[in-house]
Amino acid sequence: MKHLKLTKPDDWHLHLRQGKAMSSVVGMTARQMGRAIVMPNLSPPVKTVKQALDYRREIVSALPKSSDFNPLMTLYLTDNTTRQDIINASIEEHVYAVKLYPAGATTNSESGVTNLSNVYLALEQMQKEGVPLLVHGEVTQDDIDIFDREAIFIETVLMPLLAKFPELKVVLEHITTKDSVDFVSSSQSNIGATITAHHLLANRNHMLVGGIKPHYYCLPVLKRKAPHQDALIAAATSGSPKFFLGTDSAPHYQNEKESACGCAGIFSAHAAIELYADAFEKANKLDMLEGFASKYGADFYGLKRNTEIITLEKRPWTVPKSYSFSDSKVIPFFAEERLSWRLVP
Ligand code: NCD
Ligand code: ZN
Repeated sequence: MKHLKLTKPDDWHLHLRQGKAMSSVVGMTARQMGRAIVMPNLSPPVKTVKQALDYRREIVSALPKSSDFNPLMTLYLTDNTTRQDIINASIEEHVYAVKLYPAGATTNSESGVTNLSNVYLALEQMQKEGVPLLVHGEVTQDDIDIFDREAIFIETVLMPLLAKFPELKVVLEHITTKDSVDFVSSSQSNIGATITAHHLLANRNHMLVGGIKPHYYCLPVLKRKAPHQDALIAAATSGSPKFFLGTDSAPHYQNEKESACGCAGIFSAHAAIELYADAFEKANKLDMLEGFASKYGADFYGLKRNTEIITLEKRPWTVPKSYSFSDSKVIPFFAEERLSWRLVP
């Protein structure tokens, strides 16, 4: 097969940053994706509808004139989010979800929720209005091993939360473990999950064997191949509508990654759909890519699927070493490596 035609995909989990950093990368996503759920972990975070709309305007004004890319905005859940904030979000056409960062879990999560009981009223309102809760599913206690934080989150936080709010729509974001795959697969239809390209294509060996590779460091951290990466590949390519595309593309300045305390985040927007195509082809499941990339996410959010078609061509290419990023550089996932599929412009 030389060409692959797909309904235009959407990215259900994306970090765009702000200012010049944002305008350096937003075009890469807009070229490939119809829509993207834009994460609110700016500094300071996007907590209100007004802030979300201001941020959206900034994004739209950085797009090429011809682009019809639609940024879908989210609010950052804090201990102080009110019922009224949720009502405001539910009636605003550009706001689609609310993001839960356990305080301290990841980049810019300092304002996150310290205890879920602080946000029960907001969650109750979200359940009522059908506003999805997007979850960074990791516990943050010092004594819990970083490789176990996702599995323990499911048991100690998510299961009790869903027992209390059984109808709440939840997306477990960027899942990295077999535990999450099993949990989501066996849940009701109000629970879905996004899977990144990097968690399909890499495991912790890529990050740690032969030297420490900071550009493979993200949160939740890459896990073992068996059983975790294998379970993610099986879930993404299974045709289950509970699993859909979310890159978690999270650009950082090169010097802030290549540091004694490098920050978490992998940049993949430069080649998002091409990376997923590689992963699906390796699993011999290219025929399952369109559902995962272009259909199930829209269905989960209750939105229309895109109608435009994109074409990928089998034409191996080498990913550049870096891209310019504001006044610095960002090192992309798969830098200087070969990818088999390329989006036809
Ligand atoms: C994200 C970032 O840099 O904003 N980093 C990451 O490793 N994924 C935050 C997040 O989604 O955890
Ligand atoms: Zn993220």
